[in-house]
Amino acid sequence: MYKEIKDKIWYLGMNDRTTSLFEAIWPIPKGISYNSYFIDDEKTVLIESMGEAYYSHYIAELKHLLKGRQLDYLIINHIEPDHSGAIKDLRREYPEMKIVGNKKTLDLLKSFYNITEKTLMIDEEQTLNTGKYTFRFFITPMLHWPETMFTYEVNTKTLFSGDAFGSYGALNGGIIDYETDVAEYRSEMRRYYVTIISKYAAQVQSAFKKIGDTEVDMICPTHGPVWKELVGEVFEAYDKYSRNISDSGVTIVYGSMYGHTAQLADTIALKISQSGVKEIRVFDSSHSDISYILSSIIHYNVVIIGSSVYNAMLMPNIEKLIDAIKDRKIQHKDFASFSNYSWAPAATKRFDYFAEEIGWQKLDPTIIQKSNEADENRESEIDKLCSYIVERVNSNPL
Ligand code: FEO
Repeated sequence: MYKEIKDKIWYLGMNDRTTSLFEAIWPIPKGISYNSYFIDDEKTVLIESMGEAYYSHYIAELKHLLKGRQLDYLIINHIEPDHSGAIKDLRREYPEMKIVGNKKTLDLLKSFYNITEKTLMIDEEQTLNTGKYTFRFFITPMLHWPETMFTYEVNTKTLFSGDAFGSYGALNGGIIDYETDVAEYRSEMRRYYVTIISKYAAQVQSAFKKIGDTEVDMICPTHGPVWKELVGEVFEAYDKYSRNISDSGVTIVYGSMYGHTAQLADTIALKISQSGVKEIRVFDSSHSDISYILSSIIHYNVVIIGSSVYNAMLMPNIEKLIDAIKDRKIQHKDFASFSNYSWAPAATKRFDYFAEEIGWQKLDPTIIQKSNEADENRESEIDKLCSYIVERVNSNPL
């Protein structure tokens, strides 16, 4: 699929609606796009290439755009194989093509593809002029690999950002944000961030510092739509995510074996809702993929987690969730917990330890239920907890 998105700058990408799990981990029920960009200048330039599986269609479309010319440069912002699997075939087709990257890119080019010749190592001091256009480079390590960088075309103010600012979801015809319904891409950009980028929040902030006040008219990521009208919104979203700034709202997650913990979750959600809070998302950790749960957790300022006690631990998916939260160092949340047990009330200690480890503000009381026993104090405890939660939602500045 190709389309001119700016003067002589072409989108050249492929939609994938057949892969179930991106990186063999993350569900992509709405598919994903793999984006590369062709610049039709005096020297011809490709920014990113393509996964191996798509090569035959990709090369046919690239040849169409080249109109019989050679490909002079391939700039690699990110060498993960979803963007580079076709490099050996591309090199065979265009043996004189120079592969442009920073030192780490070229190290990885050798280890992945054993390519060491006709490369051009750049650093941030260098620019690459191809005729009308001039490219400069911002090296942005760990967004989300060691070699990742942004390429910036100076005249058109176009930022080719690699995976940063990308989103899940195949493209539905429209390529630029104003050509498509962006509602789903907004939430899928957040899910992409939390799954792929969020471990490197500090490096996102370093990248923002690096690009400073460079004017950006268009962001061309490797997945999802090209951002043009929403450049400001997309930068702001990444800035918020990476500084752990949350919107007002509540994520409730539970692991429940026989339904009692699930009932507690619904009771808590109902009571919060009755105070006028609409931004509440409830997840059963046994049925919702962790990526959707994490995406809600970075979105909203209050997190409530409940679990049945299972072998004196939390339910396995809840254990996995709190490990994922710790791994990503998600900060600045108000936290409450609830649990159900039959013979050992082991969850409370576990939740308290987690809150202390991650540095979240624990809201009391913890709601505890033994099997299906009635407890005349429970309702007032839930009321008390929910009033604190509503207060925290309403006092959140965003
Ligand atoms: Fe889309 Fe990190 O590769």
